[in-house]
Amino acid sequence: MAGVEQATKIECSACAKVILCGEHAVVYGRPAIALPLPTLRAHARIEPDRRAFTIVAPDVGVTVSPWRHSRLTRNPLARAALAALELVGQQPPRATLTVTSDIPVGANLGSGAAVSVAIARAIAAYFNRALPPEEASRLAYEVEQLHHGSPSGIDNTVIAYEQPVWFARGKPLELLDAKLVAGLPLVIADTGIATPTRIPVGDVRAAWERDRERIEGYFDAIASLTHVAREALERGDLEQLGRAMNANHALLQQLGVSCPELDALCDAARSAGALGAKMSGGGRGGNMIALVRDATHAEVLREALLHAGAKRVFA
Ligand code: MEV
Repeated sequence: MAGVEQATKIECSACAKVILCGEHAVVYGRPAIALPLPTLRAHARIEPDRRAFTIVAPDVGVTVSPWRHSRLTRNPLARAALAALELVGQQPPRATLTVTSDIPVGANLGSGAAVSVAIARAIAAYFNRALPPEEASRLAYEVEQLHHGSPSGIDNTVIAYEQPVWFARGKPLELLDAKLVAGLPLVIADTGIATPTRIPVGDVRAAWERDRERIEGYFDAIASLTHVAREALERGDLEQLGRAMNANHALLQQLGVSCPELDALCDAARSAGALGAKMSGGGRGGNMIALVRDATHAEVLREALLHAGAKRVFA
């Protein structure tokens, strides 16, 4: 049934994410743990307007007229909007959709998926339609495929559900108890290097094509650590979780997806007493995460990471 178009402004948002353990291996069917970052968000606002449906993203100086695009456009903003309109069975409204985001782009924090989910939520809400997380996730996955050819689906999932997830491709999704990670003292530091995920993902694919046995060995070792990390989370054993994070970083280095800047931030975090530190997400730039003892220690680490060259630190 067609929804009723809103006469007033609608605002929706979606969170950023980090991968606690298991990135890259998750593309090849191994499990990974991802956490939402509710304080960093992408926003979508729709206001009725007399002009034809327009999307504006003022932070990046982009204006898009989705009606000029086909449903299968490679423009991610238009693609998300057109997919959402199809989902709710509506034509483009006479309205302006404004997209803004606190999430740095290319920083492995899920900015693309968060923008898609925020757009989808806003369009559904504009037509008074509920958007279940599985539908928001499916829609964002479709757009993610434009960014890199073989996304595992973990980013769109954790962002659409806004809950910690245990994610294994092709297996039923497991939502982890939010209490397990509520208050988990993580510090996130941005190298300031924006790297599209498709680059490290493509390099891992090329290495895997060359030497499957060796690369599958890394994936299996990462999967074991992801299980260790989950058990540590469930027991509240931060020391053990930190060790699993350190070992995961070492394997990602061997896979070739870290970089000197990420390694330097991880080293600085450990020297400042972090229980564990690792790159998070695609790598070759973007962000690393460090596990600390408590909020006071997080402040110490913030200083150490800025000193070691982090462009931004989120605690
Ligand atoms: C990106 O956040 C995580 C990767 O494993 C890619 C993916 O799962 O699609 C690097």
